Amino acid sequence: MQVIRSINEMQSTSISNRSKGRLIGLVPTMGALHEGHASLIKTSLDKADLTVVSIYVNPTQFAPSEDFTEYPRNLEADQALCEENGVDILFLPENEDVYPSSYSTYVEEELVSKGLCGVSRPNHFRGVTTICTQLFNIVRPDVAVFGQKDAQQCAVLRKMINDLHMPIELAISPTIREEDGLAKSSRNQYLTQEQRKDAGLIYKALMEGKTLSDNGVRSVDRAIAEVTHTLSQSRRLRIIYAAIVDKNLMQPVKEIVPGECLIAVACWLDQVRLIDNIEL
Ligand code: PAF
Repeated sequence: MQVIRSINEMQSTSISNRSKGRLIGLVPTMGALHEGHASLIKTSLDKADLTVVSIYVNPTQFAPSEDFTEYPRNLEADQALCEENGVDILFLPENEDVYPSSYSTYVEEELVSKGLCGVSRPNHFRGVTTICTQLFNIVRPDVAVFGQKDAQQCAVLRKMINDLHMPIELAISPTIREEDGLAKSSRNQYLTQEQRKDAGLIYKALMEGKTLSDNGVRSVDRAIAEVTHTLSQSRRLRIIYAAIVDKNLMQPVKEIVPGECLIAVACWLDQVRLIDNIEL
């Protein structure tokens, strides 16, 4: 596995591989890699000839009050996971090259990014679209792989790719879960044993909403009441939002249309922010 830190070297390596007709797959990450990322890597290996994993904890998608400084960083373990999973290139851009002091260009999607997480994290998706645009311009991927766990992020990026005519296929990998259903996430590392038990309620709540929908319930209020009731079984959980939205634009729907909607949830589990979703 080749490790590249320089943006110019990454760009010229990609251009040279593309000129030889190789398809490039990119898995953008912020590190603290786990089985969820391994599954994204597998999707890229299946679709492309050359798989690039980028690791960069992107400061512009964190608000000043958020966990940028504490975000788990473990390059050695990440490098080993990439190596074991057959990654061709690990791209580790340097902060001063990504955002030099003179930096002043941002990319903003203004519809899909506004609801759900966009309400409590107003600049988050602007940071995500900006860094992904940079990564797309540097790595020049044919396919970029993201996880369904971050459904709104996927929808925002799909919209950006379409709106800006970026010649990139967006591949979405299913959410990888722990035994009790908790979606794998780098932030799960923050959870104590006690908190970890309560975290399982998030998937339980989503499944209860899905069961209602599978049984023919079309009322959004009824399904959301079920979800919030289950989440309220833990004193530690505080709901940021629980909503049923259309899966493309993440807009609220009047009634459940199976195949078109998802239930999305974000909560604080004490001081840890967790998100998850399930398609209906
Ligand atoms: O999903 C993530 O890890 C990040 O939001 C991403 C896409 C790597 C951008 O920093």
